[in-house]
Amino acid sequence: GTGFYTGDDVYLYCDQLRIEDIRQQVPESPFYLYSEAKLTQNYRAYAEALQGLASIIGYAVKANNNMILMKHLQQQGSGAVLVSGNELQAAVAAGFDTTRTILNGNGKLPWELELAVEHDVLVNVDSEFDLANISAAAKRAGKPVKVLIRINPDIDPQVHPYVSTGLAGSKFGIRNSHLQWFLDAIRADPLLELVGVHSHLGSTISKVDIFRDGATVMVGFVKMIREQGFDIKYLNIGGGLGIDYYHRGDKLPSPKDLIDTVRSIVADLGLTIIIEPGRSMVGNTSALVNTVTGVKTNGNKNFIVIDGSMSTLIRPSLYDTYQHIELTAPGGGKEQTFDIVGPVCESADFLGKERELATPSAGDGLVVHDAGAYCMSMASTYNLKMRPPEYWVKNGKLQKIRHAETLEDHLRAFEGL
Ligand code: LLP
Repeated sequence: GTGFYTGDDVYLYCDQLRIEDIRQQVPESPFYLYSEAKLTQNYRAYAEALQGLASIIGYAVKANNNMILMKHLQQQGSGAVLVSGNELQAAVAAGFDTTRTILNGNGKLPWELELAVEHDVLVNVDSEFDLANISAAAKRAGKPVKVLIRINPDIDPQVHPYVSTGLAGSKFGIRNSHLQWFLDAIRADPLLELVGVHSHLGSTISKVDIFRDGATVMVGFVKMIREQGFDIKYLNIGGGLGIDYYHRGDKLPSPKDLIDTVRSIVADLGLTIIIEPGRSMVGNTSALVNTVTGVKTNGNKNFIVIDGSMSTLIRPSLYDTYQHIELTAPGGGKEQTFDIVGPVCESADFLGKERELATPSAGDGLVVHDAGAYCMSMASTYNLKMRPPEYWVKNGKLQKIRHAETLEDHLRAFEGL
């Protein structure tokens, strides 16, 4: 098998390896464990879906900025979608062709824009002040910059409000009513070259219809802007495809379903399609592997306490999201309903609620699935729980792909102790 699955022996596997065996080899706990083969498979799913269509796959680096994973995607042919100057420098370090990268964001800083201009990054225009900053950066760098206008299409992605970005009240993008002002301002500036339009509706989207609506609205904008004489080459449809966090076998759209839908809408327009997948590229390539510290009961509530926490993986605490949880080995005591919690000093510190699991013992392995996207990249050192190491399975072998952060890293930041 590829990725994470339960074997015939009822142990959990990552590719060819039993996670129990991996745990014996890894000195740290918790740790993030990745499947290189799964990452390759996810990239290929997009690349194959896009065959015959001029396109850029812009991997959204915010989802996971492990340099080894980024380099792997770069080597497969991926471009990158960036939201900061540091992400841009990381993309350069990972070897990305920066003419196939896009800088997004509603608060891009002058130095970040200047770096983007120097590296020929495509830059999204998000507001009036952003356009002024982009223009100033191009002037300082003494070279033109290719820009896309981020349009807020006012489409409801039907997801959690925190990951919903394309609605009228969102802080992102430009409303239709302001569009003409931007077109005129860009036309008047010799260093700004308008090459495309962009929209990103939200994240964890589970219906292809939403992408269809988005692409349809955006194609309308492409036509309208072209009529004014602009040479629009790129239609950036953003990211946002959801993944099967529930492991219930729900039928989610695949990259192919998404691309086929868009393909029919953009046919004959001669556009290069940019797509910005984050979660659907890396989400299911990883699991967080934890060790059970103990089991306790308060009143009628049972808790499994693990060494991982909201510092290691904050999505359940922050968005009340579900990530599937399993023990790494069969056996254990009787099935009960547990909350799975960490050692951090607040009640927001949970990884899962009301889960049916066999009662584990201290030292047992417990996995939080689908931890490849927005988990390590959102980890903190709250309670001085330092960020964990990362490993991957590549060609059936375990390899460390990131060192654990240590207390020394913390202490080093302070002088004169
Ligand atoms: N493009 C833009 C402009 C974005 O803002 C995002 C994500 C993406 C692409 C990638 O979206 P994806 O394919 O990953 O859905 N921390 C949250 C998710 C925040 C998403 C932010 N923007 C979470 O853990 O669910």
